Amino acid sequence: MPFIEIKGERPLHGEVDIQGSKNTVLPILAATLLVRGISKIHKCPKIRDVLHMIKILEEMGCSIVWEGSTVIVDTTSLNTTVVPVELAKSMRSSIILLGALLGREKEATISYPGGCAIGYRAIDFHLKAMQMLGAIIEDEDELIKGHTTGIVGTEITFEGSSVGATQNTILAAVLGEGITYIKNAAREPEVIHLCKFLNAAGAMIQGAGTGEIVIKGVDRLYDTEYTNVPDRIVAGTLMAAVLGTGGSVVINGTDGSDLGEVIHVLRAMGQTIIVKDYTILVSSYMRPKPIPYIETRPYPGFPTDMQSQILSVLMKADGTSRVKETIFNDRFHNVKEQIKFGGSITVEDNMAIIDGVPKLKASEVYASELRGGAALVIAGLMAEGRTKIYNPHFIERGYEDICRDFRNLGADIRYHD
Ligand code: EPU
Repeated sequence: MPFIEIKGERPLHGEVDIQGSKNTVLPILAATLLVRGISKIHKCPKIRDVLHMIKILEEMGCSIVWEGSTVIVDTTSLNTTVVPVELAKSMRSSIILLGALLGREKEATISYPGGCAIGYRAIDFHLKAMQMLGAIIEDEDELIKGHTTGIVGTEITFEGSSVGATQNTILAAVLGEGITYIKNAAREPEVIHLCKFLNAAGAMIQGAGTGEIVIKGVDRLYDTEYTNVPDRIVAGTLMAAVLGTGGSVVINGTDGSDLGEVIHVLRAMGQTIIVKDYTILVSSYMRPKPIPYIETRPYPGFPTDMQSQILSVLMKADGTSRVKETIFNDRFHNVKEQIKFGGSITVEDNMAIIDGVPKLKASEVYASELRGGAALVIAGLMAEGRTKIYNPHFIERGYEDICRDFRNLGADIRYHD
């Protein structure tokens, strides 16, 4: 059984480059379907979720070539509108292919995404938006079947902020007829970058990054090249780890502009953070300070994808902290593993109350999802003694090589097959 082994309590020092963003590149890979030609995407991270999405595209007839960290996708020879059932089931973000296929081929068949360890994840906003754009959506044998005589622009107001539903709607509408207005659109950077990619390929989208996005349908998109941005959550994970272990690290390749609230919280916890010319210098030499209250919010609020990692650091804070999760209903699922390090966390009404302890002790723990797994790595780095983290494949969904990155910063961490 593979595991990650960590001998903790070593401060982190050195420089690190941040891998390309997972949640930016996944919808862009779906968007390559709309190009009906060649898309070159630079700085594509080689992580499980990306390889999974690429496998789906390949099984559907597309051709994919890697050149270093550049992925060249040719979607000309797409030969089916049925997304391979088992592959789609095991990755939630495959739902993003629904909008792209309806936009390109006017039909799509895709299974409901499977269960998720961070809580219930509905897709009602996605399906409703497709229907409003003129698609007929039917349920058959646990499959979603969509078809349309043509996507027609309209005004769609989302009941809640959803990154995936906003992206899916954009993908469906780009090659549609007329104008689509999305109100209460998600404002996450991952929406902005998808629109930048599509606009570079000839789409006409305005307003990305605001709550109102306007898409004027175009007849076709053209071959294009795009450079992926650094992964803001990977950067945030490293910063949190430095706060937990102490030390001083230079993070290269990001200006931190998409990390505003994370930087704010880490500074409040006592980290010194200097942002200069596409580098972030983080240093910490004291026990972390507690945070009286934070809650996860859609961008630009504190990201749910950083909640678990912050919890690990707060386990050692000098006082009591409260963290409320407002996006997913079971993202404290990981707490039962985190407290094995000797931390004191109680969860009530989706709010964690963390009473900091002076020292964490190594443990044997099980990852059950991506960010929770990264949080266990942070706890292991902070803890005295030898930690073993089982199920590292969950972490590999989003981190190219978390052991390499931390080892380069002086950690005693290795992967065992
Ligand atoms: N929601 C609905 N109905 C819908 C869609 C969403 O009720 O049709 C609810 C969800 O249940 C959730 C909230 O809306 O309570 C927000 O979900 P959202 O749709 O924004 O999430 P997502 O698009 O499925 C992306 C990221 C997640 C990240 C969330 C929130 C990707 C591939 N995934 O998911 O990333 O947590 O946005 O920022 O972009 C991760 O990387 O670890 C991860 C889980």
